[in-house]
Amino acid sequence: MIIVVSVGGSVLARELNTEKFREYASVLKEISKNNTLFVVTGGGRAARDYIGVVRALGADEATCDLTGIEVTRLNARLLIAALGDDAYYEPPLDYNDAKKAGMSGKIVVMGGVAPGQTTDAVSAVLAEYIGADLLINATSIDGVYTSDPKKDKNARKFETMTPEQLIEIVIKTQMMAGANSPVDLLAAKIIERSNIKTIVLNGENPRNIIDAVNGKHNGTVIEK
Ligand code: UTP
Repeated sequence: MIIVVSVGGSVLARELNTEKFREYASVLKEISKNNTLFVVTGGGRAARDYIGVVRALGADEATCDLTGIEVTRLNARLLIAALGDDAYYEPPLDYNDAKKAGMSGKIVVMGGVAPGQTTDAVSAVLAEYIGADLLINATSIDGVYTSDPKKDKNARKFETMTPEQLIEIVIKTQMMAGANSPVDLLAAKIIERSNIKTIVLNGENPRNIIDAVNGKHNGTVIEK
């Protein structure tokens, strides 16, 4: 299979932790033995810190995003270092270069691409562009819920849902200030237009990703 894994900064790099990168690298190497693998890394706490400072210094929002993108690419570099020879040597800066890098047969790791979105959208567009069979979104919650489970104790998790249902949920969640949407709206739209089979799961334990590749997981599957 061709697989894209989006690793949320909140799980890979909430705090910088060498062991976390090692754990992730070992799981990704295992998956890449039988699959073509692309990984997109989020920015985590460092991205939020840097964006906070640059915004406080008076930067416009696009500059804030560009600053965040740099941090996602730094995290990509850390994961590449952890993967060693199994990884393409640097994070591609756009989709074209990512596709070319994939021809090396190595694991390609990249961060953000353009202002106005998050790495969720990057992973969805990448999955579309390389014709991925599966997109895995490894995040800090264990699936997509009817509402934010951190705020609503009646929230129920979807085991499966359609891309259209995902879009509805994302719009509903994004309208609530401070709420955390499972994926960004652009990602949800891309997943819908190309019907990319997507699994949202808890990435705190990277073994969950291997289980998902093998068809066992307790996250949310999004497909028509
Ligand atoms: P993330 O994808 O980590 O965003 O990118 P996030 O919503 O903070 O994700 P979690 O919660 O850690 O999983 C970090 C920041 O980088 C910028 C945005 O500002 C984003 O908030 N970014 C990232 C872009 O502008 N474009 C991209 O393609 C990717």
